[in-house]
Amino acid sequence: SKKAIIFDLDGVIVTTDQYHYKAWKKMADEKKINFDKTINERLRGVSRMESLEIILEKSEKKYSNLEKVELAERKNNYYKEFLQCVTPKDILPGVLKILHGLKEKGIKIAVGSSSKNTPIILERIGLERFFDAVADGNSIKNSKPDPEVFLLAAKMLGTKPEDCVVVEDAEAGVEAALSGGMKAVGVGSATNCSKADYKASSMEFISIDELLM
Ligand code: G6P
Ligand code: MG
Repeated sequence: SKKAIIFDLDGVIVTTDQYHYKAWKKMADEKKINFDKTINERLRGVSRMESLEIILEKSEKKYSNLEKVELAERKNNYYKEFLQCVTPKDILPGVLKILHGLKEKGIKIAVGSSSKNTPIILERIGLERFFDAVADGNSIKNSKPDPEVFLLAAKMLGTKPEDCVVVEDAEAGVEAALSGGMKAVGVGSATNCSKADYKASSMEFISIDELLM
């Protein structure tokens, strides 16, 4: 049967992964919470509140649930400020060529992202009506490495999980794809992810035939 391709958003389609980092860093610096790029790598694909838990892991101060909600909100407000500057030029190299090529071949494409900001980002980059399905943080309970968001995308497309290929920059995302019974392509940060079925440093270096493996 016909394959479908499900794309992660942050760090795969668009460079917003750097704004997630900058927003967490700004919040952490203000609150004197230790945070760096090594910790940040573990946040890829992980929901907002679970990301905060990882950031606070080594903290001596104990935070109440209310305080945690406030910290996450503060980060999200900074993140949304950064998103104001996102335009189609922030689409990563090679992405539009692949997306248009897939459409020409009649292959279904979807977004599968843990982010609740997915609709805002797709609008900012002019792709809000481009995908056949969008599954995001607003419609799931469990974020990656749970396969829920990708299974939802497959269901929306009407494609069996075994016919789906997921493109991811997060280790949690590669794991989510595999545990959902899908193939996983690792790009960017996931170039070193040993579990991925196929790897490339950038979407620029992947052909449609390779994606449809
Ligand atoms: C994506 C990103 C994560 C982010 C998560 C939630 O998966 O890779 O870094 O924490 O979405 O994003 P949100 O916009 O809902 O805070
Ligand atoms: Mg990502």
